[in-house]
Amino acid sequence: MTKIIGIDAYAVHVPRLYVDMANEWPVIRAPQLGEESPEKLRGKVMSGVGLRKMAVPDGHEDAATMAAMAAKRLIDESGIDPADIETLAIGTETTVDQSKSMAAYVLGMLETHYGKNLQHVGTPQVQFACIGATYALEAAVNQLRAGENKRPYSIVIATDISKYPLRSAGEYTQGAGAVALLICENPRLLELEPGITGTVTRNERDFFRPNWSSTAVVDGKYSIDVYLDCIEGALSEYSARSRARRNGSAPSSIYGELDHLLFHVPFPRMAEYAAARVFATLWETDPAFAPVLHEVRATLDSPDDRRELQRRLVKTEAFKTEFERRIAPSLELSREIGNVYSGSLYLAFASLVEQAATQGLELQGQRVLFCSYGSGASAKVFSGRVAPRWREVATRVRYGEELRTVADGGRRVEIDVAEYERLHGHVEVGSDAAIIGPPRSVVPPRGEFVLARLGETTTPKLTDYGYRYYAFTA
Ligand code: CAA
Repeated sequence: MTKIIGIDAYAVHVPRLYVDMANEWPVIRAPQLGEESPEKLRGKVMSGVGLRKMAVPDGHEDAATMAAMAAKRLIDESGIDPADIETLAIGTETTVDQSKSMAAYVLGMLETHYGKNLQHVGTPQVQFACIGATYALEAAVNQLRAGENKRPYSIVIATDISKYPLRSAGEYTQGAGAVALLICENPRLLELEPGITGTVTRNERDFFRPNWSSTAVVDGKYSIDVYLDCIEGALSEYSARSRARRNGSAPSSIYGELDHLLFHVPFPRMAEYAAARVFATLWETDPAFAPVLHEVRATLDSPDDRRELQRRLVKTEAFKTEFERRIAPSLELSREIGNVYSGSLYLAFASLVEQAATQGLELQGQRVLFCSYGSGASAKVFSGRVAPRWREVATRVRYGEELRTVADGGRRVEIDVAEYERLHGHVEVGSDAAIIGPPRSVVPPRGEFVLARLGETTTPKLTDYGYRYYAFTA
């Protein structure tokens, strides 16, 4: 019999610093981006794209410290012994080293913090834009299903800093954060369904980051098209495999069996574009929603114009109601943080769980569809059922509260555009190859992992030029 494997718990780490997209930012950027007025740009970012704040890592943070913070939180909240971890896998596109796995750095931070020798832990890093953590999750789950684990838990961490050139259209979708997932048998939170994942890979140029660049190169509008096509392809395979697994006994449309649909969320409006494509596909054979789709199609001059069909579909009451019920709860955290790349699908999951817990909704037994996408490009569609003990996990975490600003009695600190640009533009090595190291911190670190310094030595006795030294500040 197949073992029940899935997500037992999750933990999120978000940097304290943020830029408020409604304040100074649109005033400074509107003329630079050729926008008519700050109000127009503010409207575009907040309504058109869907973001309120952009999380920014402080000087002492990088993708590895964020991952370690998420892992520490996961371990502490779950009460597990770090020695019971089999694999600590990281999915990231913000690698801190061209060779060494970031997971080894993170394991080192955890070893020092917990005073334990964890050398038995496997530590791969998986890189494929925003889908890396999903490939890492799949591997960790399959390892457990195959009975290869000697220890009960694996941890998968998605960690990234989204960075585009200043004054570009990508800039206002930036964000940063890490999401850690605890994977085990008979999980409390989500049981992943085996044997039905749909996968698509296409060799694409929609978004990438050359080795010499700290910022992504993106063909914005094209990247949206590639995203939608890849998700549609993976969904088609997922649907076919679901039906085959049930020997054809599944209903013609799987839509009615899905309670929540989660997407990779580079910016919240993208989830609406994706929902329009997915609904337009799944509603075709769904007895309850096919009439809505056919009615919209009848209004088109050209019945094959998919873009226009989707544009009109989102305006229907049926779309709005379904989106509000099955997708909107998963977008709340993303609006407050921005794009966390590989973690964004799992941030959407956290957001759904948090929203349900705070609003007293029941998730037990509900089916959740995950639509994962990474530029370059690959998509995976898979699903899981919320486990009976999900509330045990949900009541311990309250990220909505964590995201409160200092002004509201919380921990998040607003920075001005000049400070943000200083952090954004910082380089670790000067043009003469001299180590510069991490930038000055805005908020002095307390109770967190920090990038303390970069090694500067190349001598016969010690070679550590560029090595990253991490520490935990009390
Ligand atoms: N008030 C309300 N809405 C407004 C507005 C205003 N004042 N001004 C414009 N809008 C609306 C527009 O009508 C548009 O909405 P519709 O699509 O419904 O028409 C929306 O705001 C966006 O405006 P633009 O079409 O002018 O687009 P833009 O120039 O702002 O660029 C973007 C948007 C392409 C997403 C750009 O931010 C970008 O390149 N982002 C990075 C790439 C990205 O995130 N791609 C997503 C797919 S790839 C992926 O998912 C991987 C990943 O993580 C990067």
